[in-house]
Amino acid sequence: MIPASADDPMRLAVFASGGGSNLGAILNAIAAERLRARVVAVVTDRPGAGALERAAERGIPTHVLPPSDFDSEGAFEETLLEATSEAEAVALAGYLKKIPGRVVRAFPHRMLNIHPALLPAFGGRGMYGRRVHAAVIEHGCKISGATVHLVDAAYDTGPIVMQDAVTVTSNDTPESLAKRVLAVEHTIYPRALGLLAEDRLRLDGRIVHIRPSSRTSPLFR
Ligand code: GRF
Repeated sequence: MIPASADDPMRLAVFASGGGSNLGAILNAIAAERLRARVVAVVTDRPGAGALERAAERGIPTHVLPPSDFDSEGAFEETLLEATSEAEAVALAGYLKKIPGRVVRAFPHRMLNIHPALLPAFGGRGMYGRRVHAAVIEHGCKISGATVHLVDAAYDTGPIVMQDAVTVTSNDTPESLAKRVLAVEHTIYPRALGLLAEDRLRLDGRIVHIRPSSRTSPLFR
C-alpha cells in the first residue's frame, strides 16, 4: 500500500455492532491529525448500533446489513464487498458477526480487529463483551488488556500488531475492568491503524514487525 499522506489519507471502512466508542476514538484521532485516514463507510449488522449515530453526525455513509436478511452467504459477501468497495483497509471495532472469507481475502493484511484481552488468552468464538472480562477475573489473572491483530479466517487468531496491559485488582467487576480496558483500546487502535496507514507493518510468518517512521524528524524541518 502507498503510505497515506495528508492529501491522500487511507480510506477506511469500520465495522461495528455496538456503541461504537472505538469508532469514536478513530474519528477523534483523524480529526486531531494523529491518524491519516478517512472513514468512507460504517457497516453494522444491528439497526440500533450506536456507531450509526456517530457516523451520521459526521456524514459518513452507513450500511445496516443483518446477515439474516440475506438468502445466502454469497449474497451477504457480495453486499459487504460493495459496501466496502471504496475502502483500502478495514477496522473491525466490536463487530460480532463472522466476516465471510471472500471479504477477509479482499483486504490482505489490511483488516484489523481489536479484542478486549491479551490474546491468545480469552479469545475465540463466543468470547466477546462482558464474558471476556468475567473469564479473566474468574481465572484470577493479575493483568488483562487489549490486542489489535490482523484478521485471518478464524476468530481472534491473526498476527498481533499491538497490545497494552492493565492491572486487574481484587475489587474488579467485569464492568470496572471493561472500562479500563476500553480506555486502552481507544489509545492503541488509532495508533495501530496509523502504522497501517503509514505502511509500516511488515509480516514475517506470524510476527508483525514495525518499521521506523520515514517521516522527517521535526528537528530537521
Ligand atoms: C470493544 O471492547 C472491542 O474490543 C470489542 O467490542 C467492544 C466494542 O466497543 N471487540 P465499542 O462498540 O467500540 O464501544
